[in-house]
Amino acid sequence: MFYLSNINICTCSLLQVLECYIISIDLIIIPLLSAIWIMLPAYLPNSVAAVFGGGRPVDGGRNFSDGRRIFGDGKTFRGLIIGISAGIGIGLVQIWCSGTFGLEDLPVHTLLSVSLLATGALLGDLCKSFFKRRLGKERGAKWPLADMYDFVAGALLLTLLLYPSWIVAYITLPVLFFILILSPVLHRTVNIIGYYLGVKEVPW
Ligand code: CTP
Ligand code: MG
Repeated sequence: MFYLSNINICTCSLLQVLECYIISIDLIIIPLLSAIWIMLPAYLPNSVAAVFGGGRPVDGGRNFSDGRRIFGDGKTFRGLIIGISAGIGIGLVQIWCSGTFGLEDLPVHTLLSVSLLATGALLGDLCKSFFKRRLGKERGAKWPLADMYDFVAGALLLTLLLYPSWIVAYITLPVLFFILILSPVLHRTVNIIGYYLGVKEVPW
């Protein structure tokens, strides 16, 4: 009798552990991996622009009506072109991986989704710099939330605008939650690494 009830308790807790495991896969692991998978083409352009950017600024050195630079020297054509190309490049590798390894649990990228995410990320960064200059903040000055979310907002908004069916299919609430938590953490970590490697002038 004692022996049987012990087996029962064991089976019960084993089932609970299994249930927890399945719930954590569905609610945490898959959405977390999906968030990273979706945002890779949007994460890469910033870092690549910081490494390979420079040269002619997008605003051509011109000022806005308030007498300050339109975007500033930190936004260059080379940064935009190489950064967006890198985002699309990593996206194409992801598309290839999905096809080759059958990554069924992860969102399926298309040429359009990766192009919009990569372009939107750097357009978001450009828009942020426009408003940063209007507030009188110099190039490289700290503007905490805006610096951390400009590329996320740009990437998701541009894709929502031009490819809404893709956003609706893959950006579920848990995925959005992880994108919002992960993006500033990754952004800051990469910038600190870039600062110590001498690629970035400031660690933010
Ligand atoms: N960069 C670039 N072109 C872009 C974006 C970035 O060349 N479109 C390069 C610049 O060398 C820039 C660096 O990447 O200095 C880091 O980018 P970011 O932090 O976005 O620019 P900041 O220099 O901080 O300028 P801002 O204050 O306008 O954000
Ligand atoms: Mg900056």
